Amino acid sequence: MEAQPSGKRWRGHLRNQLYGTAWRVHHVLRPTRPFRRGAERALKLDLTELTLSFADLPSAFDGYRILHLTDLHLDNIDDTAVETAARVAGIECDLCVITGDIRDNIHAPLHPLIERLEHVVSSVCALDGVLGVLGNHDGAAMVAPMERIGIHVLLNETLTLSRDTDDLHVTGLDDVHRFHTEEAYAALDAAPEGFCIALVHSPEVAGHAAERHRLYLTGHTHGGQICLPGQRSFTSGLKRHRDLGRGIWRQGRMVGYTSRGIGACIIPFRSYCPGEVVLVTLRRATDRVSVNGSDADLG
Ligand SMILES: [Fe+2]
Repeated sequence: MEAQPSGKRWRGHLRNQLYGTAWRVHHVLRPTRPFRRGAERALKLDLTELTLSFADLPSAFDGYRILHLTDLHLDNIDDTAVETAARVAGIECDLCVITGDIRDNIHAPLHPLIERLEHVVSSVCALDGVLGVLGNHDGAAMVAPMERIGIHVLLNETLTLSRDTDDLHVTGLDDVHRFHTEEAYAALDAAPEGFCIALVHSPEVAGHAAERHRLYLTGHTHGGQICLPGQRSFTSGLKRHRDLGRGIWRQGRMVGYTSRGIGACIIPFRSYCPGEVVLVTLRRATDRVSVNGSDADLG
């Protein structure tokens, strides 16, 4: 696992300046009505339901349901954990996956953050438990407390889930932005033969994952978070694969979903871009994708 951020020093300095400016703007605008409404909107979470059919899905996993949570930023807007717990309560699934950015402020104390995360996780009903990967707002110090509350954190490694005589492999990467190392690529390359799912905080390595994986669940972009009408975003936050910044997509034989995420990053505000939790149902059938009951043509 990486301990130090990658990238040049000036980039870190620029990032800190940007965070500082965003916080100052936020404190000036916070009492205003549009800003308060934006914060309230940020806590209203959609449930997006995907049905993904794969001809090569092992038959024991036909009907397998995966609850995907990402970008919770639990220390940004106070009630995010409470609202998320309420949204996921009652959703029955086989597996829950959390694809990073549990934290917002990279210097925030861990104890209250983990308490909030535990509140969310205790509302999840998942037969095979909860898997997690770290995002660019998280850090190595979070792994042990996350594991203590029952989240199996995958750090550039693959976990195999078995049912009857069938296997489903899940590869989870450490953050590929702030803490990127070549170990992330090595973990994707080392995924075993068979049906593999990649959990990665960001779509950045989708091209590489498509060589061995059939499904890629990700976040990081927040769908733009602060958008113009029609969910038109100002930036993707991606260096590569900028066309994969939101929703369902395909790379080769691999299907991916970039969630808009749950919380808000730095500025506690969402505009024309509601947060979401995603429920994926896997089917063994001719390759096909449906989003909230409507077929999606991915070309
Ligand atoms: Fe995020």
